[in-house]
Amino acid sequence: MLNQLRYYITGQAAGFPRYIWEQLIFGLFGWIPTVLGVGIRAVMYRLVIKMKGTAAIEYGVRLAYGSHITLGKRVYLDHGVYLHALPAGIAIGENTMVMHHSMLHVFNFRGLPHAGITIGKNCFIGEFNVFRGQGGITLGDDVYTGPQVQFVAVNHVFSNPNTPIREQGITAKGIVVEDDVWLGAGVTVVDGVTIGRGSVIGAGAVVTGDLPPYSIAVGVPAKRIKDRREMKPGDTPSDIFFGELEQLRRNI
Ligand SMILES: CC(C)(COP(=O)(O)OP(=O)(O)OC[C@H]1O[C@@H](n2cnc3c(N)ncnc32)[C@H](O)[C@@H]1OP(=O)(O)O)[C@@H](O)C(=O)NCCC(=O)NCCS
Repeated sequence: MLNQLRYYITGQAAGFPRYIWEQLIFGLFGWIPTVLGVGIRAVMYRLVIKMKGTAAIEYGVRLAYGSHITLGKRVYLDHGVYLHALPAGIAIGENTMVMHHSMLHVFNFRGLPHAGITIGKNCFIGEFNVFRGQGGITLGDDVYTGPQVQFVAVNHVFSNPNTPIREQGITAKGIVVEDDVWLGAGVTVVDGVTIGRGSVIGAGAVVTGDLPPYSIAVGVPAKRIKDRREMKPGDTPSDIFFGELEQLRRNI
């Protein structure tokens, strides 16, 4: 029983006192809706996570290992977002938005030295994204992801058919997405992949190998079909929208 409790607490926070402290702050202030709740958390959550400037955290955001979470200024965490920094750390750069029900989980139950999740500035993480950070996941600046994108920086070893896969260990090399990449809806990026700066990945692709900068890649497995640098002025659509809200955001 005691061992079970220890196992549980170790999975949630950096020690028992820290667990009590973080749960107290989250329990007192995590549920408060409206902009009032956002304001209160911007002040009170400084006691349990690292905040550079002011971050906007909606009600119902779940945080574990708060001591290992760093948010840059003007980070936005939407309702239902789940950050679990066990214990290698999650860092999110300034002006980055993480949308509804995305889950960033370092998942480092096996003590990997290079685990962790780092997201640069001015990124947008779409709804229901999943990050599994055992091998380390690094996103540069200006990375945009559509809904249901997955970064899975881990593989199970399965070479012995006579032993359950769960007992054969894992490998985890890590994933790197360089600056200014757009990943369409439902993209999956598997372990060991680097996506070069300026790339566009079409909806539903599974990225299994490195992509050089400015690739346009689609399909399963993702294949490079174009180089963005070879696009012509005629390839730019005429019906482009920016909108007032986007302009407002740029001026914040
Ligand atoms: C990849 C994408 C950006 C289009 O890029 P593009 O350079 O204009 O590509 P094209 O439309 O000229 O298509 C080129 C080829 O790729 C194919 N293709 C395009 N998107 C594809 C996709 N997601 N999966 C598989 N094939 C795709 C096209 O059918 C075409 O094939 P063909 O040459 O055999 O006819 C777009 O199709 C896409 O997937 N957008 C993502 C939308 C999204 O997820 N939005 C969420 C908002 S964050």
